[in-house]
Amino acid sequence: MVTTFSVLLPVLSASALAADLTVGFSQIGSESGWRTSETESIKAEAERRGYDLKFSDAQQKQENQIKAVRSFIAQGVDGILLAPVVETGWDQVLKEAQRANIPVVLIDRGVAADPSLYLTKVASDFKEEGALAASWLAAQTNGRCNIVELQGSVGSSAAIDRKTGFDSVISNFPNMTIIRSQSGNFTRAGGKEVMESFLKAEGGAKNICALFAHNDDMALGAILAMKEAGIKPSKDIIVVSIDAVPDIFKAMADGEANATIELNPHLGGPAFDAILASQKGESVDKWIKANGPLYLPDTAAAEYAKRK
Ligand code: AHR
Repeated sequence: MVTTFSVLLPVLSASALAADLTVGFSQIGSESGWRTSETESIKAEAERRGYDLKFSDAQQKQENQIKAVRSFIAQGVDGILLAPVVETGWDQVLKEAQRANIPVVLIDRGVAADPSLYLTKVASDFKEEGALAASWLAAQTNGRCNIVELQGSVGSSAAIDRKTGFDSVISNFPNMTIIRSQSGNFTRAGGKEVMESFLKAEGGAKNICALFAHNDDMALGAILAMKEAGIKPSKDIIVVSIDAVPDIFKAMADGEANATIELNPHLGGPAFDAILASQKGESVDKWIKANGPLYLPDTAAAEYAKRK
């Protein structure tokens, strides 16, 4: 079963394909399967359009992203794609890009800076994702559930907003409680390590009804931790996460995970179109939303076959 709420990506125009752009792309790193797909998709879209994409991998460090943006400005690129690792600390470098008349498109994550400092944000609504996960879990458990939470990277908009959305829904259910919550840095290894510590602290699965992981990779690491501890993931502990990477569909098809919410990795097209629109003096929405549906095990094998 698939529950869709909105996909509002703009359609690629013919004139967009004809233009010639040089674009800098400061990517966070490669912490998850989703991130790798996003990088590949944006590079492929640039190649398809014949653009010159200057790619920089920040290895999870904001200082590397700031250096990359400054280098793109010095090279006089036509636009910059920035996937900000954390929410705060961007004002200065965004002002520098603005002074140089170079539009910055935020990709996937948001910043706390004034929206006038960037052209647009092409991203999912992370609060909606967290709220959807919580609503689904509330329905599954009749509003009674002790939850352990694996948070994404500290300070990232993805972690902050997914938690806010999830918490806002469970606050309506007095018997839904987060009993443990810690960051697993959006990585499989982090998810496994933190889940091991949750299981140790709780003396196994008996007091845990569900795991909410801010991404699939952490859920997959946690599933491994459960199996190593003799716990049946999805049966002893419900597993709900976000991203919809191929491996989570395999886990659902194998009966080891219960639900995932899709995060669209194909953000390059709308981001490049926004830069072109701004070059033509056209107005661009401040937030181009890209939310995806919630998937359940009944379609997992077919989805895995399509995506692996
Ligand atoms: O910002 C989006 C998150 O970052 C994805 O959910 C996660 O997998 C990633 O690395």
